Amino acid sequence: MSKTLPFTLLSFSWTVLASWPTCIVPITSTPYSYEVPSWLSLNYSCTGSPQVWEARPSRGKGIGVFATRPLDPGDIILAELPVIIIEPPLIRDGVAYPLTSVEPLLQAAFDTLSEEHKSAVLSLHAHLTPEEASDTETRLLPIFRSNAYLVGSLMSEFGLFPKGARINHSCRPNSNQVWIDKTGKRVVRAIRRIEEGEEISATYLPLLQSRKERQRALSQYGFKCTCSACVLGKAEQEASDKRRNDIRLAFHDFEPHLSLSVPQSVADKRKAQMNVEASMQLVKLLEEEELSDYLAPAYRIVALSFARIERWDQATIWAHKSYNLRLAENEDAEGTLEMAALTSQFISSWNEELYNKSKQQG
Ligand SMILES: *[C@@H]1O[C@H](CO)[C@@H](O)[C@H](O)[C@H]1NC(C)=O
Ligand SMILES: *[C@@H]1O[C@H](CO)[C@@H](O)[C@H](O)[C@H]1NC(C)=O
Ligand SMILES: *[C@@H]1O[C@H](CO)[C@@H](O)[C@H](O)[C@H]1NC(C)=O
Ligand SMILES: [Zn+2]
Repeated sequence: MSKTLPFTLLSFSWTVLASWPTCIVPITSTPYSYEVPSWLSLNYSCTGSPQVWEARPSRGKGIGVFATRPLDPGDIILAELPVIIIEPPLIRDGVAYPLTSVEPLLQAAFDTLSEEHKSAVLSLHAHLTPEEASDTETRLLPIFRSNAYLVGSLMSEFGLFPKGARINHSCRPNSNQVWIDKTGKRVVRAIRRIEEGEEISATYLPLLQSRKERQRALSQYGFKCTCSACVLGKAEQEASDKRRNDIRLAFHDFEPHLSLSVPQSVADKRKAQMNVEASMQLVKLLEEEELSDYLAPAYRIVALSFARIERWDQATIWAHKSYNLRLAENEDAEGTLEMAALTSQFISSWNEELYNKSKQQG
């Protein structure tokens, strides 16, 4: 028995339509290409620093990273080489990695750094366990534990990025961070419009959890989140928690429906039609919760749902939207190549459909 989708379809709203792209993908059977419309792709000349962020204290709060100019989705905020990379010994199956065993490696890597990098590393925030707090010698390990990210072609190494590490957490982040193996850099990008002077935020944890669950996970970083999703009144908080749970269930429940096979029976066709509406409801929930980082997989679901009812025009538009977001992140990633292939395939079907129609009329 297939699971029912968690949405009330009757409350489906058409507001999503208002944000459809005004650009229509050209109908072509030539290989698919797309130009990135970002200020970064232009040869702009300007006076002053091209740096689009600054780390500074903000009133009543500690240090944060703030935008020094307005940023559009996809704009690069920061592309940073790790100052330290640690390749840890192999992890035995089922055994949590003993972080203390990287300490000698970490110390050796640290000792080779320039004075500038050393002080950048030591100035990072670390949440200390009681034992660590009583030991003033070993700041390096807690700093590394609190700030390092998985990097490398297999994502099996740990990298430390002192600039990106200054970006604070939000449960409605306006940036994401992606490791680009080709350049060996971690790239921070805007995932929605960011105004000049606005704080840049990222997430330290998966966001499809209730506030309570998020707060519990964040306590290991030693702070209580006060982002806009965490300071809501009771009713709004419950609505937000419910939306996040519905989104999580929707991603899960859609999984078995994401093939390209066109359903044959009347009942299956009806279900596929309902899935189209549920997929757009998923996008709407993400927009309401301001979870921009989950839009690319959601657009993919909408595209595939339209393909299953043979609406090739809509399948193309939504696949193209997903492709654009993936492309901005990483042109070589599997997800990007998949969306390029799907967009191309849907354009061909759309072409064929139009050709069939013209023959019927003629
Ligand atoms: C940008 O400038 C570089 C160096 O001046 C030049 O090689 C390149 O062709 C320019 N790109 C565009 C799109 O004009
Ligand atoms: C950013 O995070 C640090 C470390 O948790 C904290 O001390 C600081 O107050 C935060 N800054 C802002 C602007 O919220
Ligand atoms: C176009 O017509 C052909 C032949 O009738 C059919 O096999 C094909 O599925 C049609 N394609 C589309 C996209 O409707
Ligand atoms: Zn929060």
